[in-house]
Amino acid sequence: MERLLSDPSVISHIARGNGGRGAATGFLMSRCAGDEAEILSVAVDPSERGRGLAGELLRHHLSRVAARGIAKIFLEVGEDNRPALRLYAKAGFREVGKRAGYYPRPEGAVSALILRRDLV
Ligand SMILES: CC(C)(COP(=O)(O)OP(=O)(O)OC[C@H]1O[C@@H](n2cnc3c(N)ncnc32)[C@H](O)[C@@H]1OP(=O)(O)O)[C@@H](O)C(=O)NCCC(=O)NCCS
Repeated sequence: MERLLSDPSVISHIARGNGGRGAATGFLMSRCAGDEAEILSVAVDPSERGRGLAGELLRHHLSRVAARGIAKIFLEVGEDNRPALRLYAKAGFREVGKRAGYYPRPEGAVSALILRRDLV
């Protein structure tokens, strides 16, 4: 995480409670290369989920990434991750690929969906 945060090609946004002065409640990070970016990680504290925080972070993040001249952004998500799939669908991402059996799960591997959103 430290290495990613100090990497100039990585854009990160952190949400904090208490009007921005409290502890971190969520974060999102993407790596940029040329006119493309990839969302590396997004997470919201379990106690803060389901209140629209990730949606707000993602909207802010995409506008800042677009302002850097990035034309398209990709990510990978487990096909069983319903909150994340809903989050990305609402933000305008669409499926462009699939890696079968990519994520191991106790009850059997699930596929990774590759999603894309154009920013220009
Ligand atoms: C995915 C994650 C970041 C979403 O954070 P969040 O702040 O709860 O998201 P939001 O409140 O903005 O909700 C996004 C959508 O997911 C839906 N959602 C939230 N929890 C859900 C659940 N348990 N099941 C189904 N949908 C759910 C919300 O209802 C919302 O859709 P809606 O606006 O149509 O109602 C959060 O669940 C998380 O940190 N998960 C663990 C890490 C992870 O899986 N990251 C994604 C890796 S690709």
